[in-house]
Amino acid sequence: MMTVEEFKNKYGIIGKSKEIRELVGIIMQVASSDISVLIYGESGTGKEVFAKAIHEYSSRSAKQFLSINCGAIPEGLLESELFGHKKGSFTGAFDNRKGYFEIADEGTLFLDEIGDMPLTTQVRLLRAIETNEFLKIGAETTTKVDVRIIAATNKDLQQEVEAKRFREDLYFRLKAVTLSIPPLRKRKSDIDELAHYFIANFCASGKIEIPLLTQDAIEYLKNYDWPGNVRELKNAVESAVALNKNGILDVQAFIPLITNPNGNSASRNLPIHLNRSPEELDRELMYRALFEIKKDIMELKDMIYQQRVVVDDPKNNNDNEEVLPLEQLEKEAIKNALDQTKGNKRNAAKMLKISERTLYRKIKEYEL
Ligand SMILES: Nc1ncnc2c1ncn2[C@@H]1O[C@H](COP(=O)(O)OP(=O)(O)O)[C@@H](O)[C@H]1O
Ligand SMILES: [Mg+2]
Repeated sequence: MMTVEEFKNKYGIIGKSKEIRELVGIIMQVASSDISVLIYGESGTGKEVFAKAIHEYSSRSAKQFLSINCGAIPEGLLESELFGHKKGSFTGAFDNRKGYFEIADEGTLFLDEIGDMPLTTQVRLLRAIETNEFLKIGAETTTKVDVRIIAATNKDLQQEVEAKRFREDLYFRLKAVTLSIPPLRKRKSDIDELAHYFIANFCASGKIEIPLLTQDAIEYLKNYDWPGNVRELKNAVESAVALNKNGILDVQAFIPLITNPNGNSASRNLPIHLNRSPEELDRELMYRALFEIKKDIMELKDMIYQQRVVVDDPKNNNDNEEVLPLEQLEKEAIKNALDQTKGNKRNAAKMLKISERTLYRKIKEYEL
């Protein structure tokens, strides 16, 4: 049996506050069973980190941990994403498709923003959890699965139930074990360690020398309310490292990075040192914007890559049903455009918002 400290090290959970240690104690205790877990917490508090740790510490760790943001997927698509569909079951269903439930068989499904799930999908979800089987859209026979559910939300589900936006039966089913991760502003003792951890990780991945975080800077970080919680802290610290020139991260390094819209900036108690020229500040803000764009692109690349990994995973290739590859979507879009323009490539390229040259190349590549 691991200790709480060993567990935290192994699964990358940082924080020595009483709250974090207690939460880790609970997840260690419930991980091995198949019981549903409901995680409450504001955005960026670490809900996914905890969900992943539960999966990794369970006997399901060799199988998939799949994370789905129920709020980000358009209502009409969510059911087909979750349960899959048969070819031709609706317009746009070009192929058989596995849903997340099937892909996560014997693994864990993390349903993020469950409070945003439409009521009709909630009905299907509850049935799938209770019977361990479900009907694919357009299918006549059920598919058996063994999936552990971890759900997360930022909304008060009890209140959602009262407002009839969330089904009470599903709520009771999900809340078997409930974890509440407090916002970072309620556990400021974690800030110091988290900041050092993110600096070290970021430097290691970029092969940068670790800069010194001054005591004043730590105090400054602790003075801020972190509406974006740990995610915001991580972004701020990484930007500061990326912009750093002299190996020292002091208060100045963070002033342009953290201010919230309420004017509740961390600097409210500190003198404002604007010993830089407006040009320097401008340049710094521009660097920061570029850095954010670069991070977005890296995240997008990651998302696309993960999508492909699911497709290419031989474990999922034992029949002809799989997640729709991007390539296929592209091919269908091109076919469609050519159909609609009766083969006129110039107009088709315009519809597709690509150059004619690219279109020719793709027609050749896909042998259309
Ligand atoms: N206790 C923690 N220890 C280490 N990293 C954390 C912790 N909490 C959050 N993070 C990091 O902060 C970011 C946001 O966490 P995430 O789990 O995605 O939050 P949420 O799902 O609640 O929005 C991620 O990069 C995650 O790795
Ligand atoms: Mg999240």
